[in-house]
Amino acid sequence: MSVRPIRLGALLALLVLHMAAGAQTTGPDLIHSKNCLGCHRVDAKRVGPSYQNVAQRYANDPEAVDKLTRSILRGSFKKWGAIPMPAQTNVSEAEARQLAQWILTLKP
Ligand code: HEC
Repeated sequence: MSVRPIRLGALLALLVLHMAAGAQTTGPDLIHSKNCLGCHRVDAKRVGPSYQNVAQRYANDPEAVDKLTRSILRGSFKKWGAIPMPAQTNVSEAEARQLAQWILTLKP
């Protein structure tokens, strides 16, 4: 009986670890939490281009993920219009890559 609390603790620890590892943040989660939607819509131009247009433009570009990751991290200028996108400093490199990959799936 005396081992029970320890086992329960271990089980809980495992469960928490498992949940942390399994809690996948998706592209849609990130565009909300990182405020991308302040300037972008998936299917309509706002301050920035729609993500569908971005996906379309880069559809045949083998370096698209790298390019978009860089644009998100460092900002983008004069690729779409007169308004620049500031560097998204609240986004990690891994998140930027995930966002780039997800945006590229949105080709209509
Ligand atoms: C302050 C407004 C603003 C915010 C916030 C913003 N963007 Fe942008 N975004 C723009 C504008 C404007 C452009 C077009 C820039 C240009 O002409 O090069 C752009 C362009 C882009 C592009 C295309 C870049 C390229 O190389 O063609 C991607 C991808 C992108 N944004 C993703 C994001 C993501 C992801 C976020 C959130 C982390 C975000 N943006 C937040 C305004 C914004």
